[in-house]
Amino acid sequence: MYNLSDWDISDVGQSEEDVLQNGNRLLTGNGYMGRRGVVDEAEAQDMPATILSGLYDHHGDLWREPVNSPDPLYSLIIADNIPVRAGDKYTVFHEQTLNFRYGIYSRHTSWQLPADRGKVTVRTERYAHMENVHLLCTRFTLCADISCQIVLKQGINHAVRDLNGPHLGNFHSWSLQSKRILGLSCKTLEQNIPLAVLSAFVPLFQESEVLNFIIKTDTVNEEGGIFSYHTINLKEKAAVTFYIYGAIYSDIDVKEPVTAAEDQIHQAIKEGWDNLLITHKTRWDKIWHNGDVIIEGDEYAQRCLRYSLYHLWLIAPRHSIATNRALSIPARGLSGQTYKGAVFWDTEMFISPYFLAVMPELAAQFIRYRIQTLPGAKRKAAEYGYRGAFFAWESQETGDDACSDFNVTDVFTGRPVRTYFRDKQIHISADVVYSIKNYFDITRNLLLLKEGALELILESARFFLSYLYYSPEHKRYEVLDVIGPDEYHERVNNNAFTNKMIFAVFETACNYIKIFKESDPEFIDDLINRINFKDDLLFMENVMQHFYIPQPDNRGIIEQFDGYFRLEDCSLDTVRSRLKDPKEYWGSSGGVATATQIIKQADVVTMLTLFNNDYSAEIKKANLDYYEPRTEHGSSLSSCMYALLACETGNSDWAYPFFIKTAEIDITGKSKHFAGLVYIGGTHPAGNGGAWLTAIRGFCGFSIENNKIKIVPRLPEHWKKVSFSVTLSGVEHKITVLKDNYTQEIIS
Ligand code: BGC
Repeated sequence: MYNLSDWDISDVGQSEEDVLQNGNRLLTGNGYMGRRGVVDEAEAQDMPATILSGLYDHHGDLWREPVNSPDPLYSLIIADNIPVRAGDKYTVFHEQTLNFRYGIYSRHTSWQLPADRGKVTVRTERYAHMENVHLLCTRFTLCADISCQIVLKQGINHAVRDLNGPHLGNFHSWSLQSKRILGLSCKTLEQNIPLAVLSAFVPLFQESEVLNFIIKTDTVNEEGGIFSYHTINLKEKAAVTFYIYGAIYSDIDVKEPVTAAEDQIHQAIKEGWDNLLITHKTRWDKIWHNGDVIIEGDEYAQRCLRYSLYHLWLIAPRHSIATNRALSIPARGLSGQTYKGAVFWDTEMFISPYFLAVMPELAAQFIRYRIQTLPGAKRKAAEYGYRGAFFAWESQETGDDACSDFNVTDVFTGRPVRTYFRDKQIHISADVVYSIKNYFDITRNLLLLKEGALELILESARFFLSYLYYSPEHKRYEVLDVIGPDEYHERVNNNAFTNKMIFAVFETACNYIKIFKESDPEFIDDLINRINFKDDLLFMENVMQHFYIPQPDNRGIIEQFDGYFRLEDCSLDTVRSRLKDPKEYWGSSGGVATATQIIKQADVVTMLTLFNNDYSAEIKKANLDYYEPRTEHGSSLSSCMYALLACETGNSDWAYPFFIKTAEIDITGKSKHFAGLVYIGGTHPAGNGGAWLTAIRGFCGFSIENNKIKIVPRLPEHWKKVSFSVTLSGVEHKITVLKDNYTQEIIS
């Protein structure tokens, strides 16, 4: 029930399912906070959320997850004593729209009051300010077709629904300036982190002319919030407009969150809606200036790709660039609390390449985030009896693993299922190293390596050295008991992807040691001494001579892991037909896919994509042909990898539907919402990044070789032209790719 115009998506749906979907689809945000696309009067069941980046809390023995802030923009219309809400029995029109050029959510709703008491209409617009990231702004216009009395309940609602909460307590509220500014302070329950939320009501109209203005402030209570009630005598067909500004600060951001929030609110009132909107839009214009990708010849792909990029920007923690606390991007962005607001390999492998191309300083923050969570990674390695750094599969602010040992609930028994993602998805440390190598290849910036990234690489190498198994029989080092990207097959031996990635960690470590031995021997010698890496280095050099990386068989196919070819080779449909419940989990010990060759997502194919230069076109094609029909694409990280590899084999038209599937994932909202009984809905930043990867690396054939841009055009049949920007070694290049050639221009 959605339709599209250039930069807008609109929806008139009112069902429960629509409300849930639109929360994601109409999401706004600015990297500091993500605000679900719900109406102004949303109550807990509508899943309103204002998710704050990098702020987590733990309640009881439930999953630790990001904090959902009290909502400072809450407003409810009470018309002739009837509280009206979108989708209720009085609703005669309801439409919500997102303009994704400027991240502006709007709604237009009309209610027909009973007994001919007239029609009331509300139009609002709101956004999370892109420049002042602690600020939320709403413009609210209200009118009725007959004179009537409206009460507007407005204020800070903290009756928001947490998946694993509650997370806040110790509430304190106050009001300022004739009670038109409301304040609420509280603390997170686990770590007692203070949070301040302010809400200002700013009428645009002449009070004396249009209305009676009565204010009554509720005392705050544990469930509700703090509200004022504005009684407005609406004249027939006369519209009244007012603004609501919200400010949110925690004491992670500033020493005095209340003062900072008050200052922010006063500043916003002083600047006013029009000026605020200008600075907000100007920031977006700057973002699109080099962040946009223009596709000629395919309007649908253009919209979906831009919408994907919009989603990346609204969760990009740009504000952390100026601070000592680096932030990264969670797997569900800032769309809610699913996946515990945790950072997965998604950031390094799927999201970071885009920012590396258009805002390398942000990609550097993702690496700094890993450097800052290195102590957590070391704790995790030690916990399992290994040395070095084993990064969290689900990483929050400390780097300790938020991933549970029981990540899925059995549909039939309701019991938790033991999953080994946390223990065995060891490729995560290699993924982090891979992204550092990527960063260096594009920026040539050695500083970050000195700042801690090289230490991280060596500690990751050390972890793998302690994980390896020497097979005396085969006289080689192997990697046993792991999970590759395909999570349906747990605890396998010699997963080709994992082995190849580990080898790349050793190569990267050796390469950077060599670079520093030449350019800064003092630094590298100090580092090796300080972290006691001398023996590890010798061992690593030896391991590299005898390390096992699974190779293609006589058909050119690489076995995903030892024994994979011996599993039942049946079709996806057969496996699907064995499900007894649509929400059943396919993997783990008893899943329908476990004993078969059906895989969840690109695995060998991801490896071939990442190490593109190491394999011939024939090998790539053989593996694409073999694995694609055996892939469920049960993860949003899958299709883009197939599309990328297909482009490498010169098959862009085959790749195209896989690209579209990735690029439209959040605009259509068609994705998995459950893993077992666990709700996993939300947005898909890895898919958003994967869409850019496919368009730019895939269809435009963009890569960096020897510090030079390389383009190999292979646009889909109907694409005429693609333009995009990349920043290489600090210089911005504008690239236009046509069917058979391309142009490249340096932007000063
Ligand atoms: C995928 C993982 C991914 C995670 C978060 C899972 O379903 O299998 O590869 O990292 O979702 O997006």
